[in-house]
Amino acid sequence: MHQFNTISEIRTWRKSHKHLVFVPTMGSLHAGHCQLVREAKKYADKVIVSIFVNPTQFGINEDFSTYPRTETQDCELLTAEGCDAVFLPNTEMIYGPNFQTSVRVSQVSQNYCGASRAGHFDGVATVVCKLFNIIQPDVAVFGLKDFQQFAVIEAMTRDLHLPIEVIGVPTVRELDGLAMSSRNFYLNEKEREIAPHFYRILQKARENLATKTIANVEKKAILELTNVGFVVDYFSVVRRFDLKLATENDGDLIILAAVKLGKTRLIDNL
Ligand code: PAJ
Repeated sequence: MHQFNTISEIRTWRKSHKHLVFVPTMGSLHAGHCQLVREAKKYADKVIVSIFVNPTQFGINEDFSTYPRTETQDCELLTAEGCDAVFLPNTEMIYGPNFQTSVRVSQVSQNYCGASRAGHFDGVATVVCKLFNIIQPDVAVFGLKDFQQFAVIEAMTRDLHLPIEVIGVPTVRELDGLAMSSRNFYLNEKEREIAPHFYRILQKARENLATKTIANVEKKAILELTNVGFVVDYFSVVRRFDLKLATENDGDLIILAAVKLGKTRLIDNL
């Protein structure tokens, strides 16, 4: 597997490959990321992964400094997955001293994680736009676990006419249902036992939608989550296509939720 640290190395390598698939990550790779690489391989002969813990998508009181950095193991994992190249830029390269441009996707960034994490999706859209421009892939692969992020990237790619096909991959879960996440490493033993209730309560809410009003489904789920020890950030039934709050007449729904367990923030959807 090639390892590139500079934009010029990427540009040279890019020229000799016709069809390229790109998987952006922040490292601390787990089976969810590996699934994205496997999916990516279906779309083209060459797969490139980036590992960059992007400072602009973390709020001031968030976990940028403690975010797990496991580059050596990550590269071993990617080599085992048959990934062709990894891009490991440093912060100075991505955000030069006079950096002053950002990308904002106004509507779908607004609520849910966007409301709780001010500026988060501007940071995501900006870095992904930069990485798209550096790597110039034909296809880019993202996880549906971060559904709002996926919607932001889809909107940005469409609105800016980026010639890139954006693919979403279903959430990879632990055997007990917990969505895999780099942040699961923060959970202590007790919290790790509680964590699977998040998905269980999401599943129950989905069932309840068949017989109860949306407001009641949300209320019941928030109560259940609180009772088992989560602090609920949001639990919202929304329209899948524009992420607006769903009404009883809407079909094609998605339940978006974020909770805190101790200091760890978890998100999931169904
Ligand atoms: P990161 O959290 O490392 O995730 C990288 C990609 O892996 C994202 O597309 C995410 O949705 C996907 N992913 C994470 N956990 C997954 C799971 N359990 N199942 C399936 N896919 C999963 O998301 C980011 O990094 C950053 O915001 C990034 C897009 C790289 C921009 O900095």
